[in-house]
Amino acid sequence: MTRAVCPGSFDPVTNGHLDILRRAAAIFDELVVATGTNPSKSRLFEPEARMEMLREACADIPNVTVMGFSGLIVDFCRDIDAQAIVKGLRGGNDYEYELPMAQMNSHLTGVETVFVPTNAALGYVSSSLVKEVASLGGDVSGLVPGFVNDRLRARLAERRAAGA
Ligand code: PNS
Repeated sequence: MTRAVCPGSFDPVTNGHLDILRRAAAIFDELVVATGTNPSKSRLFEPEARMEMLREACADIPNVTVMGFSGLIVDFCRDIDAQAIVKGLRGGNDYEYELPMAQMNSHLTGVETVFVPTNAALGYVSSSLVKEVASLGGDVSGLVPGFVNDRLRARLAERRAAGA
């Protein structure tokens, strides 16, 4: 039984994430999507909302579960007995960023990282760009699931109404 963890902020989940999750779920018996918060990134959705969207988006992938975590990802992997971490790679910048973390995580507990190359057609998609484009009135409907697009627009409108 192989269990892998795919960590991220998923703020919000994009079609790029979903492509990686589907392909990783085909490799491992069980894939746990671990939602955390990166303090150096500005956050649009609360953790519970991000997990709700992930659960809905992954509802048709039977071996995927969604959980939240805080602290070190290696500790979370140990707690749930996961042998691998999955990360999607869009290009060289992602690799430069991810490689030392993969090496550190391997050093800390021996957990290995498996890199999955992003589908070339989705290589430019990131949650940050999706939020930026949507907040300036751009159309991101092909880049996130329809219900995520609806929630994104609603949340941005809520923010605007609050003067944020
Ligand atoms: O790629 P993201 O979306 O910024 O990832 C966010 C998150 C919370 C998953 C990431 O920051 C993370 O894995 N944090 C855990 C802290 C940790 O283990 N740090 C040491 C890495 S070597």
